[in-house]
Order: sequence, then C-alpha cells, then structure tokens
Amino acid sequence: MERSLNIRQNLTICITGTPGVGKTSVSRKLAILLRGNVINVGTMVIRRKLFSEYDEYRDTYIVDENSLRDELRKVIRENKRKGVTCIIDTHLLNALQGLDIDLVIVLTCDPLLLLNRNISKGASLQKSIENAVSEFLNQILIDVFKIFDKSKIIVIDTSCKDVNTVANEILNRILSKKYHDEIDWKQANWSFRAAWISKLLTSTSGRI
Ligand SMILES: Nc1ncnc2c1ncn2[C@@H]1O[C@H](COP(=O)(O)OP(=O)(O)OP(=O)(O)O)[C@@H](O)[C@H]1O
Ligand SMILES: [Mg+2]
Repeated sequence: MERSLNIRQNLTICITGTPGVGKTSVSRKLAILLRGNVINVGTMVIRRKLFSEYDEYRDTYIVDENSLRDELRKVIRENKRKGVTCIIDTHLLNALQGLDIDLVIVLTCDPLLLLNRNISKGASLQKSIENAVSEFLNQILIDVFKIFDKSKIIVIDTSCKDVNTVANEILNRILSKKYHDEIDWKQANWSFRAAWISKLLTSTSGRI
C-alpha cells in the first residue's frame, strides 16, 4: 500500500475489455491499491437513465453516448479537482472520445477461458459465444487503438492470472511508468484458437 503513495493521486484510468474479462473485479482491487474511486459505466447508464431505449431481443440498453460522455466528463473533472484517482470500468469506448483519460488498460483473455468465465457468471450461451468471438477478433483492442494514443495503452492477458495478480501487475506498470513501452502483442494473440472458434461457429450456426 505504501508504494501507491508515489503515484500521482488524480490519475484517470480506464479499465476496458470484452464483457466477462474481469474489468469490474480488477477495477475494485486496483481502487483499493490506489485509494481511488471506481465508476462502473454500466451502472451509471442505468441509474442516470443515459439510454435511449432497451433492446429486448439483445437484452441490452441502447446507450445515449453524448449524455454519457457529458456525465463522465463531470465525474472526471470532480475527481481530478479533489485529487482522487478515478477508475472507469467500461467496454463502451465511443463515449470516452475526447475525455481527459491518462491511462487505458485493456484486459484480454483466451477466448475459450472467457467463454467459461461468462457462462459461469450466468450469461446466456449466445452472449458468451458472441463475446468469445469478439475477443478472438480483438474488437475492443482495435477500438482502443482508434481512440487513444498508444503511449497511454497497456494490454494485459489475464488468462492464467487471478484478480490480485492482474491488479498488482497494473500497479507495478504505473509505478515503473512502463506504460510508455511498446505494446506486447502476445497479450492478445489468439490465433491458436482459430480452429476452435471455427468449430464453435459451425456448431452454433443459425442459433447466434
Ligand atoms: N483473472 C481472472 N481469473 C479468473 N476469473 C476471473 C478473473 N477476473 C475475473 N474473473 C471472474 O470472471 C467473471 C467475470 O468477471 P467480471 O464481472 O469482473 O468481468 P467484467 O469484465 O466486469 O464483465 P462485464 O463486462 O460483464 O461487467 C467473474 O466471475 C470473476 O470472478
Ligand atoms: Mg463488469
């Protein structure tokens, strides 16, 4: 805990990744290590009604990105003003465009393990498969690179690590300022799952 005292106290950190990858679990742990606040964007959208409609078929809210961006801007400013580290837990990246974010942590996971994490968490098979395919295709990572400067991005493969290990790895990267290093693409290379993904899609074709 003492080590965290060396870190600038009003960082704004986004923890992102495909649903089920561990954003919320890691954000909570990191908030303890950094004595920061967590903003769970999904909860914020529902509580502050920052959506235009609810899509029953996809069981998801259609987010009003402009309103969400305005709310996040206010929260970030308030935390910076108070000198408190703010951890934004979200996979909704479009709403983050133009916001004052210091660091973006992209959590990744072997798509097969991700499928199991989501199913264990109670997600539907359809959503779990969609998320496994999305992770295989690095969809979140590609969007992150479109929006943020690469000097702000850290990619961490969570596959064989528990939540504590991932949170401590992030803390160490922040402490050592290692986020300015080159991205380690091995943290997001799931090409070895290509045959499995293909089989998964064939076996479920027409159902997802
Ligand atoms: N590093 C990890 N290793 C193993 N299991 C993990 C790890 N991180 C999280 N989990 C487990 O995976 C599940 C999903 O984690 P969590 O809810 O934190 O993900 P999330 O990215 O916030 O998902 P969502 O986008 O749906 O909110 C939880 O059951 C959690 O305990
Ligand atoms: Mg979550």
